[in-house]
Amino acid sequence: MADLRYPGLRNQPDQGENRGWLRKSIQRFLRAQFGRPTGFWGNTAGKIMARTPSNQERIRWTISLLDIGPDDRLLEIGFGPGFGIELVSKIASEGFVVGIDHSEVMVRQASKRNAKAIRDGKVVLKLGSVSNLLKFNEPFDKIFTINSIHFWTEPIDCLKELRKLLRPGGVIGVTLQPRSRSATDETTKEIGEEVAMNLERAGFSKVRLEIRQAKPVSVACALGIR
Ligand SMILES: C[S@@+](CC[C@H](N)C(=O)[O-])C[C@H]1O[C@@H](n2cnc3c(N)ncnc32)[C@H](O)[C@@H]1O
Repeated sequence: MADLRYPGLRNQPDQGENRGWLRKSIQRFLRAQFGRPTGFWGNTAGKIMARTPSNQERIRWTISLLDIGPDDRLLEIGFGPGFGIELVSKIASEGFVVGIDHSEVMVRQASKRNAKAIRDGKVVLKLGSVSNLLKFNEPFDKIFTINSIHFWTEPIDCLKELRKLLRPGGVIGVTLQPRSRSATDETTKEIGEEVAMNLERAGFSKVRLEIRQAKPVSVACALGIR
């Protein structure tokens, strides 16, 4: 079973103690900049995420699986630079989009990208953690999260809480694409299956796993219904 907390960062052999230590420190640093971007490097990581074609493709594909309607109320956890928020707010043109991310730098970047929709009251972006969700007056039709769940502590508990925010029949989509050089299509399949299992454990029904061939490795999206 893949280690969901560190997809693709496993099984890299040490080549000498010092180089191993240095590489692990760099990996930890880079991972932190994608898991909770801060400061200059976090800002840079956000710009990279927003511009990378494979990221954009992964986000577009996830959104296509959600069957979003013009009136939908949507929630994205871990929106990063806000590319997904921008896309869904255009599709749900009469709806409402909320985003939650625990990185101040990402909230700033995504707010810039979505400034008009925020001014128009169609998008609200909040600084916060999935582990401590805000209260909402109305339920959501769709919740999605892309390359974020592997950073969450207690992902099953978080999924249980997210389920409560959905209307009955509402859909959740959880996408992961491992990003390290050691990741393979098999890694994607393993982590996708683990996410699907976690959705079931969190009480979602009709859980299904979609896998899309992509470069550098395939992408998995597990979907479930409240
Ligand atoms: C690798 S980025 C992915 C960003 C975007 N979804 C994408 O695919 O380009 C992960 C994002 O999840 C956010 N994140 C990670 N753990 C989180 C948590 N516990 N609560 C809220 N946001 C979280 C990070 O701050 C970061 O913006």
